[in-house]
Amino acid sequence: MLRGMRLLLLILLKLKESFIAKFGSAPKFYVRAPGRVNLIGEHIDYCGYAVLPMAIEQDILIAVEPVKTEIVQLANINSSYLDFSTSVNNIQINKTKPQWHNYFLCGLKGIQEHFGLNNPTGMNCLLDGTIPPSSGLSSSSALVCCAGLVTLKANGKTLSKVKLAEICTKSERYIGTEGGGMDQSISFLAEEGTAKLIEFSPLRATDVRLPSGAAFVIANSCVEMNKAATSHYNIRVMECRLATKLLSKSKSLDWKKMLRLQDVQAGLGVSLEEMLTIVEEVLHPEPYSTEEICKCLGISLEELRSQILSQNTQNVSTFKLYQRAKHVYSEAARVLEFKKICSEAPDNAIQLLGELMNQSYISCKEMYECSCPELDRLVDICLQFGAIGSRLTGAGWGGCTVSMVPTDKLNTFLKNVKKAYYQNDGQRLALENNGLFATKPGRGALVFVEA
Ligand SMILES: *[C@@H]1O[C@H](CO)[C@@H](O)[C@H](O)[C@H]1NC(C)=O
Ligand SMILES: *[C@@H]1O[C@H](CO)[C@@H](O)[C@H](O)[C@H]1NC(C)=O
Ligand SMILES: *[C@@H]1O[C@H](CO)[C@@H](O)[C@H](O)[C@H]1NC(C)=O
Ligand SMILES: *[C@@H]1O[C@H](CO)[C@@H](O)[C@H](O)[C@H]1NC(C)=O
Repeated sequence: MLRGMRLLLLILLKLKESFIAKFGSAPKFYVRAPGRVNLIGEHIDYCGYAVLPMAIEQDILIAVEPVKTEIVQLANINSSYLDFSTSVNNIQINKTKPQWHNYFLCGLKGIQEHFGLNNPTGMNCLLDGTIPPSSGLSSSSALVCCAGLVTLKANGKTLSKVKLAEICTKSERYIGTEGGGMDQSISFLAEEGTAKLIEFSPLRATDVRLPSGAAFVIANSCVEMNKAATSHYNIRVMECRLATKLLSKSKSLDWKKMLRLQDVQAGLGVSLEEMLTIVEEVLHPEPYSTEEICKCLGISLEELRSQILSQNTQNVSTFKLYQRAKHVYSEAARVLEFKKICSEAPDNAIQLLGELMNQSYISCKEMYECSCPELDRLVDICLQFGAIGSRLTGAGWGGCTVSMVPTDKLNTFLKNVKKAYYQNDGQRLALENNGLFATKPGRGALVFVEA
């Protein structure tokens, strides 16, 4: 703890010096927001289901000085990220090719709109980040959350953490992706020493104490989640929505109002296991063409495109509905089971949690098709060297795995995984420092003011 505090003070001091060099005056306050690792519950937050993440130590840190002009000036400690400035009264968010500052603008705009601020303050901001980008540890949402809290504080306003998380979830959609809210929620609601079950509608977080005999290890596959990952993600969101429509229609629910797979379960008042049986009865494993979907719903292709498909899925011609729905309902059940095992702490808890992580990974790979060869290889290596369970985390198609490793085997595990996955590849080895580490539940976003 003491070492952590001292390190933080050193980092703040360094950031302050850079801020003064850049803007010619000292920052008035600092805000940090952490990244996260999702332990279980992949791709289900946007379907309305609970997830089980924890905050990591890596974070986005912003030094801030409110100014009397209407200009917000953004700079980054890392010179790969270019300076940006804009009027706070004319915020344009670029969806086509979002650069780092667009994520800041999402948080800024979200808070301004929430309060209907007529005269929002300008500010100078200098950012330092330690979350590896495009790795599934939520660096972009941490930036949106950090910017939201910066804007709140700079304008002298206050909000609950839950409200902040809701606003930042909504405002990150200005970028064009339909996130479900896990990332922003854990960034605000996290507490040191405990993972959280995050539930939606209404948003709430419950402590989940992890077993003491196990460490959770993050390993980066060093495959960047890129533009293609975004496109896969948008298609998955739509496949879940279409599955929702077809399941609802077949069960005579008001399908036009149903948006998420959880709505179907709630509408029918059945268990997740029963939903899995219904999926078997109603949907077929062969992909659905847009024609078949239109026929099932009794609508025209024009109606499908204008009323259901998002802008970024207009051109997709086939959709897998059975596989996606199977994954979502089974993964939702695994999250609840994981939470239950942690609260009841049976003797074989670590074994049982490992099985759930394994099953989650297989479902992600086979039903949701969100793995990639490097993630598959990394999961194999982690299991081979002593992980009790291992899975991809943070959407997939690249990014990281999370593995549960008995604490007494941690050092040999790290050494062996380093040798097997990183050692013989220069590019991976360069990232390994930031890309292979054991992590503990860290605390959520907060504001520091210098004494
Ligand atoms: C700066 O950011 C780039 C792009 O993300 C990254 O490749 C590089 O390692 C970063 N540099 C430092 C010093 O962190
Ligand atoms: C968005 O960014 C792209 C690439 O930098 C640029 O070509 C385009 O003009 C930008 N659009 C807007 C609305 O700023
Ligand atoms: C959809 O296809 C049309 C014609 O091929 C193309 O012009 C358009 O850019 C595509 N839209 C998207 C979102 O990919
Ligand atoms: C997880 O899967 C691996 C590989 O299939 C297996 O060796 C391991 O025993 C599994 N863990 C548990 C707890 O079942």
